[in-house]
Amino acid sequence: MFHSKSIISSGLALIVLLISTAVLAEIDNSASQKPSSEASAKNLSSVQFKNVANTGSDSVDETKLRIGPGDPLAGKSKAELCFGCHGEDGNSIDPQFPKLAGQYGIYIAKQVRNYQASIRTHQIMSSIAASVSDEDLADISAYFASQPMMKGASPSSNQIGKKLFENDDLSRMMVRCNSCHGASGKGQNPRNPVFPVIGGQHKDYLLRQLLSFRKGDRNNSPGGVMNITVHRLSDAELEALAEYVSGL
Ligand code: HEC
Ligand code: HEC
Repeated sequence: MFHSKSIISSGLALIVLLISTAVLAEIDNSASQKPSSEASAKNLSSVQFKNVANTGSDSVDETKLRIGPGDPLAGKSKAELCFGCHGEDGNSIDPQFPKLAGQYGIYIAKQVRNYQASIRTHQIMSSIAASVSDEDLADISAYFASQPMMKGASPSSNQIGKKLFENDDLSRMMVRCNSCHGASGKGQNPRNPVFPVIGGQHKDYLLRQLLSFRKGDRNNSPGGVMNITVHRLSDAELEALAEYVSGL
């Protein structure tokens, strides 16, 4: 029993590594179509790749890695279009709009590109995304990424959510959330923008995304990993998770 469990866990660790590698390669490709960000995005992904399994810090400036290839100063005025819903510092007030504060720049840009390509769809966001140019997108993403990171108002005592967040349930193909999203849901480390910051995000938004991954309406996660993860979780479990994660 112990033995087969450890084989499964190393299999899971491998999946996490493969997802990182595949997505970082994709980021690399899309960056090379844009000459201005090519060099920095290339550097970023090679550094990240080397460090996927190594969270030890080195001399690389972590804030720069989180921000990605854009210019946060230039991004501030370009981001005005987004403030009405996402908040001036990326901490939206209305829970139907996700917080973007301290989210990885590369993750923000990936989502907007997914809306542009209809890989992710939403009535409002899809039409806004269509009006953003590639260069503006890098700078806007950098601006939100540079803001102090989203944080829950108060820690949740939801034990069902905590248990699911921290423990695999292999009988249901559920890999614990913290293995990808980090111990407090703040991502893995600044070099790996594949796994978004979810800790401290609005509960309503989190729940809507989890339901949407389960139903298959949202299917833009690499390898469908989020669809698989929540496929067999109940409404009550998703609600518990959203509650717990929003407090982190
Ligand atoms: C009129 C309101 C509105 C405006 C303005 C707006 N957004 Fe959004 N945004 C939304 C909503 C609603 C969602 C959630 C959509 C969903 O559920 O897929 C969203 C989602 C997002 C996401 C996905 C977040 C995540 O965690 O996956 C990103 C990134 C984003 N918006 C970026 C932007 C940027 C950049 C701008 C400005 C160029 C902008 N938005 C302007 C309403 C808005
Ligand atoms: C094997 C890795 C992995 C595991 C395990 C995992 N996630 Fe994810 N998750 C991802 C990736 C990668 C994305 C980014 C999807 C994308 O690129 O659009 C994501 C996206 C999300 C989002 C959307 C964030 C946003 O801003 O829109 C939520 C919410 C989320 N995960 C919650 C969870 C919860 C809760 C669990 C545990 C039940 C979990 N995840 C387990 C990899 C994982």
